[in-house]
Amino acid sequence: MATFDDSENDVLSPMTATPLTDMLNASVERRKVLAGGFASAAVLLFGNGVAGAQTTSGPTSTLGTRLGGKTAGPSLGFDSIAASTVDDVIVPSGYNAKAILAWGDPIRPGGPAFVGDASNSSADQEQQLGMGHDGVQYFPLEDGNRHGLLAINHEYTTNNLLFPDGDADWTSEKTLKEQAAHGLSVVEVEMDDDGNWAPVDSDRARRITPNTPMTFAGPAAGHRLVKTDADPEGMTPVGMVNQCGNGMTPWGTVLTTEENFNGYFWEETEGAAEGISAEQAGINARYGVSGQGFGYQWASTDERWRADLNPQEPNRFGWIVEIDPYDPDSTPVKRTALGRFKHEGAAVTTSRSGRAVVYMGDDQRFDYLYKFVSKRPWKTEIDAGRSPLDEGTLYAAVFNGDGTGQWQPLEAGRGPLTSDKGFADQGDICVKTRLAADLYGATPMDRPEWTAVHPDRPYEGFVTLTNNTRRTKANAANPRIENRWGHIIRWDETSHATGRDPESTTFRWEFFAIAGPGDGADGSTVPVQEAFGSPDGLWMDPRGRLWIQTDGGQPDDANNQMLVANTETGELKRFLTGPGDCEVTGVAQTPDGTSMFISIQHPGDSGSPEDPTAGSSWPDGPGNRPRPATVVIRRDDGGVVGE
Ligand code: FEO
Ligand code: CA
Ligand code: CA
Repeated sequence: MATFDDSENDVLSPMTATPLTDMLNASVERRKVLAGGFASAAVLLFGNGVAGAQTTSGPTSTLGTRLGGKTAGPSLGFDSIAASTVDDVIVPSGYNAKAILAWGDPIRPGGPAFVGDASNSSADQEQQLGMGHDGVQYFPLEDGNRHGLLAINHEYTTNNLLFPDGDADWTSEKTLKEQAAHGLSVVEVEMDDDGNWAPVDSDRARRITPNTPMTFAGPAAGHRLVKTDADPEGMTPVGMVNQCGNGMTPWGTVLTTEENFNGYFWEETEGAAEGISAEQAGINARYGVSGQGFGYQWASTDERWRADLNPQEPNRFGWIVEIDPYDPDSTPVKRTALGRFKHEGAAVTTSRSGRAVVYMGDDQRFDYLYKFVSKRPWKTEIDAGRSPLDEGTLYAAVFNGDGTGQWQPLEAGRGPLTSDKGFADQGDICVKTRLAADLYGATPMDRPEWTAVHPDRPYEGFVTLTNNTRRTKANAANPRIENRWGHIIRWDETSHATGRDPESTTFRWEFFAIAGPGDGADGSTVPVQEAFGSPDGLWMDPRGRLWIQTDGGQPDDANNQMLVANTETGELKRFLTGPGDCEVTGVAQTPDGTSMFISIQHPGDSGSPEDPTAGSSWPDGPGNRPRPATVVIRRDDGGVVGE
């Protein structure tokens, strides 16, 4: 079904750059190949060298060779399940799935209980799980395979379900409740001897919301563009919004991402008429801050969200926020060196020299893929009490038609990023990242969502391009016009200077999968039995299985789902189907791999105040208001999930 993400991603990039990709790519011929080149059902994915032989040119044919030949890869030891429209979470035979931590459940046992007609107050909501469960990370405590912390993103709310009367008769109490349903929850959970996980009382349990005090760090901290009347030093932003996908550092913190932050701001009057600078008007245009946003009503009772009255307040959103879940007193930090855009997620790996490398998608039609490389090895920085994420190089990706690519460094004074273009210092680049990447001709992508990195080959990564029904001109990395179903790209970071290493500023790439109805229909390269569309969540687990989650239209109008791939062989199996109207997102595991945590977001979001169960009654069953929730998946025999 149409989802929030599908409706809120208007084109904002200038599309003026003509990447080399466009010039090199004979897109018509390429589409012919995609549409007609996969008659054999045996060819499933663009696994290492498997499907490459199907194409006569272009970027899909060489990666397998370069990787030195495929290995067996991880086993997928379960029977693939069928696509489904059942209003429930369905997993393979031999597995069980249990909902815990639904929207409105208290983050500590004994806290305010959820009331079934959604009449809980804002004060209750501040002590309960938020709505819109998205990325989830698991942080082990002692006996960490059965005891840990979950950090759960709450991306956005569905007001027809959040309030008994939906958006009617808006009040400041409604603003406060809706804000409290956003952000992130930290919950301490434990598993009993029967394999059941549940929250336990904990001083570490906390809610972080759009009203939580935070700090800035990195090049934009204290920058002229993030100062406001309420914070003249530009150092203490308040709150975060629209927390989306994955993000976990090897030093044990969450990187929670601010995605569609623009939609929360209002301009009562056209900004320029109210004295907003030409520079700020340009920033707003590129980031989609305009009018009354996505229809959130916060600005009607909380003037901080009035972009005309607080022109630089929007510049204080769109960041990656680092949170230490183990320390409930820690202040969340906006790490500005990682750039400002509609941050979908952050996959972190370590280079050969020990630097932290972070891959990040900017989820907007025709926006870009980025990476950040820390200036120094992360372990020495952590040991010295400094963040590795405050100094380093931010890059935007250019995908060439011959299967190569470059990471373009976004550094003040370098290349086109000069003072006269508005980039006098690195803070300018961090606040105006999209505008900086435009000048380098970064490749306009079909909505980059999650990224994933191989656990044993940190130079090998993946990105989901979820869909882009407004593409009228193909480029090599986004070969379908009106890309309804989306695709997944794999890259291999390599250069003569570095060899295979995530610090490389060049890479090779191929399509890992082109989604769709399967067996070649609409150019799709997946088997019809495992057809999927709109890939979004993406995670490679420590044993090398690639988990793929969907958000958006599915072939045959099936419910959203989760699949798992062996990326060595191209084997693909459907592992889970979700309830009605939902998005399947967020994925984490205990270290031993025997418990998996995922998120079910916006089940039943077609419900109305008059008929809240119109789209779903999950997880509480018939007659009950649907609620986003975390789902724990285990094997009945206690084995590794997916093995
Ligand atoms: Fe929050 Fe682009 O998904
Ligand atoms: Ca997403
Ligand atoms: Ca999405």
